[in-house]
Amino acid sequence: MSDKLIIFDTTLRDGEQSPGASMTKDEKIRIAKVLEKMHVDVIEAGFAIASSGDFEAVQAVANTIQDSTICSLARALDKDIDRAGEALKGANSSCIHTFIATSDIHMKMKLNMTPEQVVKQAVHAVKRARNWTDNVEFSPEDAGRSDEDFLCRIIEAAIEAGATTINIPDTVGYNIPHQFGETIKSLIERVPNSDKAIFSAHCHNDLGLAVANSLSAVLNGARQVECTINGLGERAGNTSLEELVMAVRTRQDIFACDTGIDATHILSASRLVSSVTGFIVQPNKAIVGANAFAHEAGIHQDGVLKHRETYEIMRAEDVGWNANSLVMGKHSGRNAFKVRMQELGVEFDSDDALNSTFKSFKELADKKHEIFDEDLQALVSESQNEEHESIQLVALKVSSQTGEQNSARIVLSIDAKEVSATANTSGAVDATFSAINSLVDVEVNLQLYSVSNVTQGTDALGEVNVRLESDGRIVNGQGADTDIIIASAKAYVNALNKILVITDRAHPQV
Ligand code: KIV
Ligand code: ZN
Repeated sequence: MSDKLIIFDTTLRDGEQSPGASMTKDEKIRIAKVLEKMHVDVIEAGFAIASSGDFEAVQAVANTIQDSTICSLARALDKDIDRAGEALKGANSSCIHTFIATSDIHMKMKLNMTPEQVVKQAVHAVKRARNWTDNVEFSPEDAGRSDEDFLCRIIEAAIEAGATTINIPDTVGYNIPHQFGETIKSLIERVPNSDKAIFSAHCHNDLGLAVANSLSAVLNGARQVECTINGLGERAGNTSLEELVMAVRTRQDIFACDTGIDATHILSASRLVSSVTGFIVQPNKAIVGANAFAHEAGIHQDGVLKHRETYEIMRAEDVGWNANSLVMGKHSGRNAFKVRMQELGVEFDSDDALNSTFKSFKELADKKHEIFDEDLQALVSESQNEEHESIQLVALKVSSQTGEQNSARIVLSIDAKEVSATANTSGAVDATFSAINSLVDVEVNLQLYSVSNVTQGTDALGEVNVRLESDGRIVNGQGADTDIIIASAKAYVNALNKILVITDRAHPQV
């Protein structure tokens, strides 16, 4: 019997720390439901003290999810821990994850504390967290650059104080696989009470080594890995859940443990996270990229057709590819639509919300006769966004002609009042954005604009992502339509709405 490898997903917390990737409460619930379906053991739902919105999101996930443990991050401060404990009250199974930095550079430059003070604060934090729950994780932040003797000292004290999981973060993605593995092994050997806690790895991908470092940790005794869907996360991201899970599963000849993940939900989780955050998955990304299981014509394809294992080490269907995601067409009824949405983890708050998304579905089905799960997910993201937006796209007319300037006439509803503008510039998208800018009183810088197709074919929905910066705040906006200029306008309006409502939230590591 091999050991259980615990999967701790931090898409909703560390993933959310990516620029512009912040998620609403409803989006977090949708993602958490898919993670639960996938049998993720622990879902880190957020940093409860960051803002009242963050608190409510952690609370809502804790109240909704039944099977996974729900965790909130907390600095080693009383107010953070109590806020996390409050938010998690409704969870079937809860965990508080508290942390304090332990590297010389962080202690000196960030905390301005001595190592003695850091140990004392860590012990106090773990004890306080234990008053809320029996499941307490302690992380020595920047462990990857911390002195090993000091790590042994603080870890022993944290376990003594009641920590049940010791998470070793390579916060800045500095470690190299054999070295990170040796650190884990050495800590487990040297800390006298290490048998009383589970050791966990939390790796960042600055050198592209997060998955490799996590696997090395597992080979050296870690029995929990912290990861995110699509490897989303601060800077270059975190360990990618799908890559880690499939590496351990595919190489059972090497690993003495396995996860309990139902991998058939991996692809839908990947698509959902990508559509909610606007972080597109590159085509050659392992497991979930469009090319991950696509074979170039010729010799490889011939080999695969003759005998699949010639060139394939995993089966595409095991991670959710080739699953029949063709769901409906223009004759599908409201009830069938509602049931399919429930299967995708989407619940409507009211009949009005259901009716309006169903109307958008019917409109789409008129333009595109095959509707896939991905199309439905794009529709939901859009209608959930629109419900709360003060700026709405009412109409857009664009004219383009070779050798001529492009003209865009836009009608927006701003706080329920219709306004319109026209702009003429050299590109259709540029003219559309200029016309919108002339109606909205905020200074923004466009940092990113990208278009991708949600499914195959020229009638597919085009999904546009824009990233806007205003006063140092960054947001991502998404829009989908079979017309990519309209999708662009929707994405831009979505981002502007986010800029208008964005509130200050504390960042856990600053
Ligand atoms: O990367 C890191 O160190 C973290 C901690 C908060 C665990 O995310
Ligand atoms: Zn992190």
